[in-house]
Amino acid sequence: MSGDLTFNKYAAAILATALGFIGVREIAHAAYHPHQPDVPAYGADILAAAEAAAAAGSSQDAPLPFPQADWIAAMNFDAGKLVAAKCFACHSFEKGGATVTGPNLYGIVGAAAAQNATFKYSDAMRDAGIVWDFETLNAYLEKPSRYVKGTNMTFVGLKKPEQRAQMIEYMRTFADNPLPRPEPAPIPEEMDADAAIETVEMDDSQSMMPETEMPKTEMMPETEMHDATTNEAPAHE
Ligand code: HEC
Repeated sequence: MSGDLTFNKYAAAILATALGFIGVREIAHAAYHPHQPDVPAYGADILAAAEAAAAAGSSQDAPLPFPQADWIAAMNFDAGKLVAAKCFACHSFEKGGATVTGPNLYGIVGAAAAQNATFKYSDAMRDAGIVWDFETLNAYLEKPSRYVKGTNMTFVGLKKPEQRAQMIEYMRTFADNPLPRPEPAPIPEEMDADAAIETVEMDDSQSMMPETEMPKTEMMPETEMHDATTNEAPAHE
């Protein structure tokens, strides 16, 4: 049966290729590492590559899109009121509230920066061109002096993201028409793609014969396999 012949030819070719790979690997291995037969030649490389990938990954952690679901979940008026105690010395939040060391902040979420006519802003704040949305407020409140260099707001900042979320929720409600709470930002596709590429590269470095080079469906059609096993199964053993 010609089907069987074809099958055997392919089987032999695959076997030879496989043996060839293993042979080359063993010879190379023996040649370059004659005194350490138990340590795979590529072990250290893979480890180094994995460490490098991990290091690269951790440095990419920072710019995840804002806001994330857990940041939004932390937005809480009551908790924000407690955080706002840090601001009361310099800011009022109610409509028509007093200007203190800092401007009254009624309606600030969604407004352009430096719009309070009764307050004398720093040049830095006046020229910043900022619109106070959830993202810019989050960045400013983390470290005011970094986000607006030269600001007169001598407040160290709120280090914890959840405190900023709480604070911003408190501020959001002090407005004639409060902005709706934000939606979670979608994770860009390229981040997923990067992760996928890393996985594939790791697999390739570990495998001498990537599966993609031997498309089983083409070499061994199912119908031929079936004929062979039912009619002359022992011939292949
Ligand atoms: C020591 C006083 C002080 C404290 C404390 C303080 N601020 Fe300020 N804040 C200021 C001053 C002064 C400005 C004006 C900054 C400028 O002109 O550069 C300001 C500006 C701002 C602005 C921009 C206002 C606008 O009209 O553009 C926001 C928003 C703000 N503060 C929020 C807060 C929040 C929230 C807190 C508490 C977590 C806080 N501040 C704590 C003094 C303070």
